[in-house]
Amino acid sequence: MIHSELQRALAQRRTFAIISHPDAGKTTITERLLLMGGAIKMAGAVKAKKSKLYATSDWMEIEKKRGISVTSSVLKFSYEGREVNLIDTPGHQDFSEDTYRTLTAVDSTLMLLDAAQGVEEQTKKLFAVCHMRKTPVMAFINKMDREGRDPWDLLEEMEQILGLETFPVVWPIGQGRDFQGLYHRLNKTLHLFAKNKPYNISFHDPQFKELLRSRDDTEQICEHLELLEVAGRSWNREAYLKGELAPVFFGSAIRQQGVKWMLDALVNIAPPPGARQARERVVHPEEQSFSAVIFKIQANMDPAHRDRVGFMRICSGVFERDMKVYVVRLGKKMRLARPTEFMAQDRSLIDQAYPGDIVGVHDPGLLSIGDTLTEGEKLHFQGIPVFAPEHFAMVQLQDPLKSKQLRKGLAQLGEEGAVQVFHDLKAQRLYLGVVGILQFDVVMYRLAGEYAVQATLQKLPYNVARWITCPDEKALEEFLAAYRHQTFYDIHEQPVILSDHTWRIDLWQERHPQLTFHSIAESLSSSR
Ligand code: G4P
Repeated sequence: MIHSELQRALAQRRTFAIISHPDAGKTTITERLLLMGGAIKMAGAVKAKKSKLYATSDWMEIEKKRGISVTSSVLKFSYEGREVNLIDTPGHQDFSEDTYRTLTAVDSTLMLLDAAQGVEEQTKKLFAVCHMRKTPVMAFINKMDREGRDPWDLLEEMEQILGLETFPVVWPIGQGRDFQGLYHRLNKTLHLFAKNKPYNISFHDPQFKELLRSRDDTEQICEHLELLEVAGRSWNREAYLKGELAPVFFGSAIRQQGVKWMLDALVNIAPPPGARQARERVVHPEEQSFSAVIFKIQANMDPAHRDRVGFMRICSGVFERDMKVYVVRLGKKMRLARPTEFMAQDRSLIDQAYPGDIVGVHDPGLLSIGDTLTEGEKLHFQGIPVFAPEHFAMVQLQDPLKSKQLRKGLAQLGEEGAVQVFHDLKAQRLYLGVVGILQFDVVMYRLAGEYAVQATLQKLPYNVARWITCPDEKALEEFLAAYRHQTFYDIHEQPVILSDHTWRIDLWQERHPQLTFHSIAESLSSSR
């Protein structure tokens, strides 16, 4: 591969995910993006996938039963000479750790808000991961065709609740039934939906008011634009790339209004694949030598063979089909068979892939989340964190003779990141921790289906978990002894304390300043 070809491939790529609260319109906007990228031919295809197509797909049985997406997939499309990788995240309320982990594989995110709801709970949680990783965030305020909240209010909420500076790139002309157009502040373009063409015109131009003459709030719109220009922030791409400032777009996904301007910005100002920090050094995407990180493992593509698909994000170099790669954790080489790319509903085998691309590879049970793959160099990519679960349960086996299968099954499901497994001090009982409650159902279902283990769960009355560390071992031991009924150990024997409320953690922290309570554990791979 000639260096300049790799450079060109890099400049073309944009890898992002959408973060939103259920019902904000993620499915609708995804479909609009795929339509614009020519990846689907008709509206309704993604929507159908969300509800009934899943019933005929070969993904997890549980999806068929419940008609919802438990796993995330990757969608690829081309737009204006760019190759866009959109990593889809489970949209259901009961999202899982997979949703969080997906965010470690992207270079930027699109935060989708419902204009009537503003910043909602799930958005806050997902944004926290972006904030932690300093991922650039672009915002799209959707459903402007419905009566919603005042645009200024929404901007202020983003700043107050998320601590994110905002720069409205477009400004709405009206709202609700009166939503008639958008003004692009950077391109100085007015788009009136009723007209066929956009007008290249500044709001300072007297013609601008002329174009809006049918409205009785034209003066007010111009005042708002003036205020934004005089008192608002100026556009600063550097601040966006550092994750400090969000360019904001308004529109209506369902009516395809404002989506194109957002996508145009995304392919132009969102960052191409960037450098990644490994424990040993920074890895640059334009390096000739291939490297990738496994951020997701999807099991059960074929339950009979317990086959799994590992999803890797390529970090540097070029991936070629049938390549033998070095799995750093295992210290051995492995051929990556059946590399697969996902285009809307289709999957296809690929011959080559570049940094920023997401490729699914056949995994005979060797790969783990967080694994680094290279051509031979001992690198450990960092940043596949383990998030504190919010739901806990004790596992009760119906047939005690199946204890070995249970441990084996849970170990494998733990490796895939489907569940976090804990044990008590004496390692007699097993406990499960999950981020989204639906993960419990998935685990029970898979234990029965794949490992022939019938178990039940007894929920524990806790919803907060913190890993505890302390340089003073004695102090740590004393604390753990005092709270031994709430203390459990993860698969790396790290102590974790469970509580029913965060204020209790704050109290402990106050009383034991030498202890550190972590809501995010060490990266899975680096703790091995
Ligand atoms: P999600 O994936 O984030 O959960 O949201 P989804 O796209 O499924 O959208 C949730 C609901 O919001 C849907 O209505 C959808 O049609 C509607 N919606 C999405 N974008 C817009 C928009 O720009 N304007 C308006 N007014 N509505 C929007 P639904 O009634 O739940 O489903 P359906 O009957 O329309 O399929």
